[in-house]
Parts: sequence; C-alpha cells; structure tokens
Amino acid sequence: MNQSVNDRPTPPPVDPEDAFHTSTEATLLPLPTTPDLDPPGADRIGLSPAEVDQFREFGYVIKRGLVPPADFAAIIDFWWQQPPVVTTGAVRDDPGTWISPRRYWPRDNRWGLEDNWMGSHPWPGPTDPRPGANIGERVGRLPFKLTRDRANDVWRWHGIGHDPAFVEVSAAHPSVLHMVELLLGGPVKRPRRSRGIYALFPKDPSEPASRLGPHMDDNPTELLVSMILEDIGSREGGFTLYPGSARALYPTSAQALNWVATERSPAAMDDIKANVQPIEFTGKAGDVVFCHGWTVHSAGIHDGRRIRMAAFHDLNKVRRRGHLRWTAAGKHGGPRVNCDMDGILTIPVDGVDDPADGWREVTQQWLVDSNEFVLDRSPPFDDMFKQWNLGRQEAAGHIVKEPAWWEKYNMPLLPAGSVPRGGGGVPAAPLTSVATYEGDGRWRFPLKGNNWMGQVE
Ligand SMILES: [Fe+2]
Repeated sequence: MNQSVNDRPTPPPVDPEDAFHTSTEATLLPLPTTPDLDPPGADRIGLSPAEVDQFREFGYVIKRGLVPPADFAAIIDFWWQQPPVVTTGAVRDDPGTWISPRRYWPRDNRWGLEDNWMGSHPWPGPTDPRPGANIGERVGRLPFKLTRDRANDVWRWHGIGHDPAFVEVSAAHPSVLHMVELLLGGPVKRPRRSRGIYALFPKDPSEPASRLGPHMDDNPTELLVSMILEDIGSREGGFTLYPGSARALYPTSAQALNWVATERSPAAMDDIKANVQPIEFTGKAGDVVFCHGWTVHSAGIHDGRRIRMAAFHDLNKVRRRGHLRWTAAGKHGGPRVNCDMDGILTIPVDGVDDPADGWREVTQQWLVDSNEFVLDRSPPFDDMFKQWNLGRQEAAGHIVKEPAWWEKYNMPLLPAGSVPRGGGGVPAAPLTSVATYEGDGRWRFPLKGNNWMGQVE
C-alpha cells in the first residue's frame, strides 16, 4: 500500500448510483452546437491549438465525423430488433409509431436477465420477498432500463454496452482512443464496456414539455464521451452540457482524481445552473464530444419527432485503483449501506450482530467501465490538467488492455446460458461472499484492482 497517496482522510461512503446535484432548477435553455461554432480542426482527427484552448477553458471538444456511421450500422439494425422496440410495434420507416412507447413497456421489465441473482435465483420483482433486502429494494441497473424522465420516454440499453462488437465501434474505436490519448495522455485504459445506447423517444404533443435535469455523474471517469448515432437537430434531445462547469467544480472537491464534494460544492453547482449557458450536442451520426468527466450535464430537451440515439462512454488512464464501489441493500426496512474508499462497509448493528447480514444483497454500478476509485487521494492540483496531455505529445498508441473490473473481482456480467446478446448484467451477490466480517457490523472488501500489474497491495 502506498501511504503517500492513501493516508489522507477517508470521505463518507457514497451510493455509487448517486449523481451530484442540487435542488434548484436550470434557468437557461441550451443552444445547439452547430458546426460553425466549432474551433478550427473539428473535422479532422487531432487537436488544434484552438481546440486545446477550448478544452482548457470549457472542458469539451467536438470531433465531427470521427466514427463512420457504416461502422455501427449493424448495431443500429440490431437496436430495432430489441424488445423495447418490437413490443411497441414501432416501425423503422414510420415515425408515427415511435411516439411515447412507454405505454407498451412492461412495468416489471426483466428482459435479458439470467437466473443468477444471489447465485442462482431470478432477479427479483417489486413485490417479491427477499431475505437479503427490503421488498421493492432496487436491483441496480437492468440491461434494458426503461424510464420516463422529465416527460420523455427513455430506453438506456446498458446490455449492449459490454458487447465486444459494440465496444469495438464505439468506446474503443481506434479514432476515439486516438483522441483520448491526445487529451488524457497514455497509458490509456482500453474500455471494456460503454454505458450503452441511450434512446430518447419523441413524446405526444399533449404531454408536458421536457425539462433539463443538470447533474454531475459521481463516477471515477476522466473523460465522458458521447457519440451521436442518428442525426440530431436543435431541441431533439441532444446531450446537454454546461461549458466550463468541470473547471468550476474542480477546486471544490477534496480530491483531484476522485470527486469528493465539500461544503463549497453545492454553491458552485447552483452558480453553474443559474449563470452558465448550456449547449446541446447537435450534429450528425458519428460526431463525438469529449468532456471532462466532472462536466455538469443533462439529458436534452426533446420536442422533436425523431428518436435521439446516442452512446455514452467512460474513458480513463491506467491508474492504480482503489476499491470497487460496492453497495449493500437495506434490510428489515433499514437503509442501504455503501462501501467507503478504504473498502469498509459498516452496518449499524446496535451492539447485536445479525448473522443474516452476511446475506444482504451486494451490487455495484455495473453500467460503467470505471467502477473503481482512484487509489491516489491527492487534493486538487493548482492546474487541473496537470496530468493531462492536451495535445502536447502525439498519440503513440499507448493503449493498455487492462482487465475489466468485473474480471478482477470475478463477477458475472456478459450474457450466458439462454440470455441473448444485448442482455446480461451483474446480479447481487451475498455480502459474505465478497467481504470479510470484522465484528461490530464492519465488513472489509479485498482490494484486487492492481493485482494484474504484478504488485501486491
Ligand atoms: Fe449523467
């Protein structure tokens, strides 16, 4: 263990599914990112001096036509064959059939799941009794996540995110990795999954107008990358971001490489929402935006008639990793309990151990490629881009095939058995199977994130 980077205070545990947000409403409506606003160089792979300047000040850069649409055309075809589309009767050539599909979606959606919950059970439904969790407790992400968000129906297809063929043409596309190396510098961790394809459906005009929900993903992600899969015009649900927001939030974090909100962070977030002009990522299929991972963003406002189809990826450098972000379900009406950066999960036991706590359901935010904390707990640097490349050195192909976090911790993720491509996901495991009990409600998780480097932690 490297004491010089890890002897700093342990922040309170955070639920890995949480995002950092405040209660105030967004005040400004987004402006589209039309190509005439791009700095010179947007239509070429590489980073021009003007693009570097923009990234330093505003924390994002757009590359037009970075990935040829032909590369992911087969994935789009596959999208149209999936249950959230087929069950609605949506027809590719008939936009009238795309509107508000939620009325056809099952409330209890179990598509693409294996019977591997807690080892061998079906994933539970909202009314199923569960020895290791409260009835109705969340099960974490589903491979086909269907929601109604601020008036628009959304399908987040996380199950395609770990599909090797999809990863190859999206998060790990050679042109994407080239840009990531130019921005972050090597060694770049070759992603093993993407968050997947997020589809925002057009709504019925009689439904309420969609609204922004600005937040910052509380993930250990250095670059948040979004790729347009179908052309997007203004007010058609384009990924919306707040330029410069990462730079405003950065000095309020207690750490440089893990987001640890402090008492100054909410005021910074409120200021961003009140005063920063948001932009919506509009463009053509294959356009890609690279954002600093702490950029405040929102699903876009969608008053259009097309399906907004985009993919979202988490890109990172290879770094020494801290613990996986585990979370244990609440039980007997009690609250959920989360693992801290030291790999400790503490269940209040009031002096009386509950032997059955070892059977609590433990999950993690499996949709992201970066699910482990950064081991280094340094405070924010004077220059937030101190460790970045930002075009200083040419990309040399320094891409490392680091094992995926689910492989490091021997968790199932990929579809197996009778589950078809596009499904899968990490089920809950009993607490006692992934952590060791130390008494007084204290459970310790092992650190396995760096074993592949050949070092003993
Ligand atoms: Fe988000």
